Amino acid sequence: MASPRNMLLAALTKALVLSGLCVGYPSLLNGLHERLINARDIAPSYDYIVVGGGQSGLVIGSRLSEDTSSTVLVVEYGYLDNNPSVLEPSSAVQYPSGDLYNLTSIANQGVYAAAVVGGGSTINGMMFNRGAAEDYDNWEALNNPGWGWDGILPYFKKSTTFTPPDEAVAKDFNITWDIDAAWGTDGPIHASYPSFYWPGAKIQLQAFKDIGIPYLNEGAAGEGSGVYWNPDAMTADKRQRSYARTGYYDPATSRTNFNLLTGYRVNEVEFDSNLHATGVTLQVRGGANGEGVTTVKANKEIILCAGWLHTPQVLQRSGVGPKAILDAAQVPVLVDLPGVGANFQDHAVAQMSYQYTTDVNPNPRGVRTNQTFQQWSNEQWLDRKGPRSIGVGNTLACVGLPHVDPTGYQAIVAKIKAQTAEYLPEIYTDVTKKGWLAQRDILAKNFAGNKSGVIEIPFSGQGNAAMSLEKPLSRGSVTLQPGDKYAEPALDYHLLANPADVDIMVSVFKFARTWYAAQTELTPQEQSPGASVTTDEALAKAIQQGMGPSTAHGCCTAAMMPRDIGGVVASDLTVYGVTGLSVGDISMMPLIPATHTCSTVYALAEKAADLIKARHK
Ligand SMILES: Cc1cc2nc3c(=O)[nH]c(=O)nc-3n(C[C@H](O)[C@H](O)[C@H](O)COP(=O)(O)OP(=O)(O)OC[C@H]3O[C@@H](n4cnc5c(N)ncnc54)[C@H](O)[C@@H]3O)c2cc1C
Ligand SMILES: *[C@@H]1O[C@H](CO)[C@@H](O)[C@H](O)[C@H]1NC(C)=O
Ligand SMILES: *[C@@H]1O[C@H](CO)[C@@H](O)[C@H](O)[C@H]1NC(C)=O
Ligand SMILES: *[C@@H]1O[C@H](CO)[C@@H](O)[C@H](O)[C@H]1NC(C)=O
Ligand SMILES: *[C@@H]1O[C@H](CO)[C@@H](O)[C@H](O)[C@H]1NC(C)=O
Repeated sequence: MASPRNMLLAALTKALVLSGLCVGYPSLLNGLHERLINARDIAPSYDYIVVGGGQSGLVIGSRLSEDTSSTVLVVEYGYLDNNPSVLEPSSAVQYPSGDLYNLTSIANQGVYAAAVVGGGSTINGMMFNRGAAEDYDNWEALNNPGWGWDGILPYFKKSTTFTPPDEAVAKDFNITWDIDAAWGTDGPIHASYPSFYWPGAKIQLQAFKDIGIPYLNEGAAGEGSGVYWNPDAMTADKRQRSYARTGYYDPATSRTNFNLLTGYRVNEVEFDSNLHATGVTLQVRGGANGEGVTTVKANKEIILCAGWLHTPQVLQRSGVGPKAILDAAQVPVLVDLPGVGANFQDHAVAQMSYQYTTDVNPNPRGVRTNQTFQQWSNEQWLDRKGPRSIGVGNTLACVGLPHVDPTGYQAIVAKIKAQTAEYLPEIYTDVTKKGWLAQRDILAKNFAGNKSGVIEIPFSGQGNAAMSLEKPLSRGSVTLQPGDKYAEPALDYHLLANPADVDIMVSVFKFARTWYAAQTELTPQEQSPGASVTTDEALAKAIQQGMGPSTAHGCCTAAMMPRDIGGVVASDLTVYGVTGLSVGDISMMPLIPATHTCSTVYALAEKAADLIKARHK
């Protein structure tokens, strides 16, 4: 197969990848120094200090520095990842370990937290979808005016530029969209589509329609339960990752009022005697106890954007958190705020696998051994087209409980309504239990209708399905290690602790079987859990044994809710009990939305930046 033509193709591919280095990273060639600052050159004070230069931190830092009279410092523990491979769609499934925290001490598998400039957006699967309107209206219902669908939609639009799919592929796969209803046309993050799909996805999509699941015209316009196409966070022309660094950081090259310090950890927020946040202590990455610690002052505000794992940790380490946790770690309590590190949510995931005994060609399984197809695929990629433009996939069903289980959903809803706070982790106090009960009522209402999803099933022609529980009732916790407050925090997912989560998953497995059964053309044969696993008890056991705790959508550990029900921040994102301190990242979500979280993080960070600007006018 090593014909001269193939060798030429290989050489061309390589040249293209290398040229991507210059195309993708103009910042390497000019202007980097104005923004990337050496620790020696940090000013003694800044108007704003953003803790964490991940996805939300770069959005907020970039927006606040648009006012050139304001000085902004972003402190990031990770480094810039200049490897051009992060731009490739294939990076969507690679999760490079150098850009992640070492969470080996955590027993559970599949737990990821980004440690790199751009955070999750630099290394994630690039899947770019949204929750239904109801997912955000739930936030507003927890007494957060302005955070419902109508309040957040303008920020979804502000953060994006949408490009429709290629005409031929749109026609072939009946991909539909509605730019006016959902998308922006000049925002920093590009939403676009690959130019190739596996034909099996058509059959899988039709099977959802055949079992009564609505086909959504535009999955990002707030519609409820349904099956739909979603774009990737990817540029339309070169099909490269579009992320917080390229969208928000690189374009701010010329701003001398915007500094990014990498390779430093924020240890604590410092407060004066009035509990006003005055600055932060920083420590060089890898520095031993007390080594290389400096302080930087904030004139206006400190914004925590350290992610679901570390935002609650920084708060707790600074004396703001549940008294019992702070006492155990010997941290003096400034504000007893029991919600910090409680309310932890993620999308747990269960696998079902099927073999398609009469699969269509080409299919994702067969092509790995088909050199003719591989060659065509490589040729296509020279024009940034074909199968190599696919990331993790662009079709999914996000389905409400009545659709999943038309005859059983009411019994599940009744069971949830009858629950008290008996399944919550130890960190929960009387105050935080009230917050869970308020959430329970909202979720019970959601589960009685088809306006948002309880389960997500992505598909793109493959036989296995990774089904994620979108609206869990179980809650976990993130807490300081009592013996070492600087070590990675203790993490308890409390996976499936609430039996209603198991009930929902049992219904989901049965629903998935009806979906597979409708794919007659592919002649599906169940491999796992296996056709012999039929009773509810046996299904529940298979689910409890096989479910993973995370799809890297950790959130909600510094929730925006009223303080008397366990909230950490008010609806203007300021932290209760102190002044000069706010949360601008995924930790602020009170309830996890039924979607991959990246696009929602852009929207909420955009809204956060507007709120912060407004209060310092
Ligand atoms: C492997 C992976 C795959 C994913 N796939 C998808 C997907 O396909 N689609 C999707 O929509 N979403 C996906 N997500 C989720 C999405 O990317 C995240 O929800 C989102 O990026 C979170 O943004 P954030 O700003 O809250 O936190 P992050 O982007 O994680 O940023 C937090 C930053 O703070 C830094 N930091 C932490 N502590 C400190 C400290 N003390 N001092 C200084 N800096 C600190 C961290 O190093 C990090 O860079 C994925 C996430 C991961 C990790
Ligand atoms: C993870 O551990 C390795 C090896 O000790 C270290 O070099 C790296 O900096 C650690 N990563 C993070 C994000 O701290
Ligand atoms: C294509 O999608 C639209 C909904 O947007 C639907 O009305 C139509 O029936 C679909 N066509 C096919 C062939 O599936
Ligand atoms: C390999 O791929 C080519 C091109 O798509 C196709 O024509 C051929 O049938 C495939 N071969 C096998 C054995 O599947
Ligand atoms: C859910 O939608 C289906 C049709 O798709 C409908 O028959 C059913 O009544 C709906 N259920 C509820 C509770 O709204």
